Amino acid sequence: MLAGKRIVLGVTGGIAAYKAVEISRRLVDAGAHVVPVMTESAGRFIGATTLSALASEPVKTRLWDDPDTPIPHTDLGQAADLILVAPATARLIAAYRIGLSTDLLTNVLLATRAPVIICPAMHTEMWEHPSVADNIATLRQRGVHIVGPESGRLAGGGSGAGRLASPESIVAAVERLLSAGDMDGMRVVISAGGTREPIDAVRVIANRSSGKQGYALAAEAAARGASVTLVSTVDLPAPVGVVVERVETAAQMQAVIEGVAAASDVIVMAAAVADFRPVAAADHKLKKRDGVPQIILEPTPDILAGLGSRKPAGQTLVGFAAETDDLEANAQHKLEAKRLDLIVANDVGASQTGFQHDTNAVTLFAPGAAPFVVPLANKRTIAAAVFDRIVSIRNGTHRS
Ligand code: CTP
Repeated sequence: MLAGKRIVLGVTGGIAAYKAVEISRRLVDAGAHVVPVMTESAGRFIGATTLSALASEPVKTRLWDDPDTPIPHTDLGQAADLILVAPATARLIAAYRIGLSTDLLTNVLLATRAPVIICPAMHTEMWEHPSVADNIATLRQRGVHIVGPESGRLAGGGSGAGRLASPESIVAAVERLLSAGDMDGMRVVISAGGTREPIDAVRVIANRSSGKQGYALAAEAAARGASVTLVSTVDLPAPVGVVVERVETAAQMQAVIEGVAAASDVIVMAAAVADFRPVAAADHKLKKRDGVPQIILEPTPDILAGLGSRKPAGQTLVGFAAETDDLEANAQHKLEAKRLDLIVANDVGASQTGFQHDTNAVTLFAPGAAPFVVPLANKRTIAAAVFDRIVSIRNGTHRS
């Protein structure tokens, strides 16, 4: 999460400048304060009004246009937690490399000690030119972070290397750089979505889980430096840097998770696993003319309870409890019965929480600790609170 972080977003003159608007919106949504700075030529590609509307303050373009701030470049550079330039042209990259301060953006880049991310975007010939390659190599050596470019379709026809990295991967790079890094190197497995148990060739027993909370947990853990495997029943876009394993049924989810469990530091079972499945699924479509079918159900394996009974030393096991009644008693019971280190309980009957929504409100229960309430927030903020708790449990500090 980027709450309280101040990011200068530099935009230079290229076709991809329009994507800076989306990047700005995503950064603001993640809680950052975005200060947009456009070069003069960026103004030929996008309107300052558009970028201002989706940033945290109006666009700045010149060294001299604010009478209240006579030296804006030092103010902006010194106050920033990060400078992001997206898109960055060959000219900006060259000027930054040689320390040529000709406009507000290049001045800000020279007047900061904050980390810098440069996201190049240009035609393949330019990107592959030895001068550009040399400038990029020098900037990298100095510790500047270069994100992209990607290969793909380019403006003006043709395709090749030079396309601006996607807004998702640029924002993920910002999050990685500004995150606490408190999960560096941790191996994390997260399950997401609701399992689907076949009745016949076309029908399933399913549930209302959207998978959004599991995906938010995966994005948060990856941003904090973990290597994350997400075992999912849904087709949401994969968070940047996360390995997604697609499954359908409880049995498939169990097989994938048990295959990686022993080597995992943290397992979070956010999935709504079906408790019952048909004993036998018909391999054809059941026909109406044959009458109402008798579907015999059997219990599915309890994946989490199985993991709890074989938990290796040092592993942190986290469950979810979706409840409609007696939240605390049910959550405490599951915490003990499944031998968990933490359970995330939510009232799925309340408005704006639980299944399908973009927001959630949860209570965290850990053995011997007082319940910890995380009030209504977007699912990424909930994910950050869950991993704050997991990290403090692993550091042995959660009772303080
Ligand atoms: N879970 C699991 N395997 C199952 C059922 C549940 O791993 N077959 C996990 C869920 O992913 C969740 C936790 O167990 O992390 C609690 O799930 P929940 O459905 O709330 O609890 P149940 O134990 O199934 O109990 P009940 O449905 O009676 O509330």
